Amino acid sequence: MMIKSVELVVTAFDKEQYPSDNLLQIAVVGRSNVGKSSFINAILNRRNYARVSSKPGKTRGINFYKINNMFYLVDLPGYGYAAVSKEMKKQWGLNIETYFKISDKLKYVLMLVDIRHLPTEDDIIMVNYLKNMEIPFTIIATKSDKLSKTAVQKSIREIAMEFKISPDIIVPFSSSKKQGVDEVLKIIKKNIKN
Ligand code: GTP
Ligand code: MG
Repeated sequence: MMIKSVELVVTAFDKEQYPSDNLLQIAVVGRSNVGKSSFINAILNRRNYARVSSKPGKTRGINFYKINNMFYLVDLPGYGYAAVSKEMKKQWGLNIETYFKISDKLKYVLMLVDIRHLPTEDDIIMVNYLKNMEIPFTIIATKSDKLSKTAVQKSIREIAMEFKISPDIIVPFSSSKKQGVDEVLKIIKKNIKN
């Protein structure tokens, strides 16, 4: 799939701001600092469209990127960032939950985990939620450039075990090396057909 156009239509802090058109949506979720913004830039082939930051917890609102006037890529705020208050964590959780609850245009989820770490409790809650809601998803194991090839394979098996899923639905990904981009674009293409 060619990315011909990208438009940040809205950064929503409230459900009233979600786009009201009928385009399908593909959501990107994951812990704070896992590499969501870098992932989005890599697959859209844009340098710094989604803001990458060294300070975790930057992406607050829900970014709706309209791609090729065909579908939305939805960048959800990262969860699990330790250095924020309980109140803020709760608010983030609620924002994500509201999105999943009311978004009937959501077709597919790309869920990011850091390939160097086992899934956290929050990650497992997220995957269980997707399974229960029967929302199809792929796990993107980010920062694969930080591990050797054999270590990548080992991590994928371990992550699959923790999530109780098949390793076949885990894609190793590197934003810096552009590894996994084509595979992700293929997955997106397959899932934006009505
Ligand atoms: P928040 O919006 O704060 O939740 O973070 P995020 O999930 O959007 O992560 P972001 O893309 O901002 O990246 C966080 C850090 O990880 C940055 O320092 C990136 O440079 C680094 N990073 C992201 N992807 C990769 C990757 O594929 N390889 C390597 N080596 N570093 C990466
Ligand atoms: Mg971000």
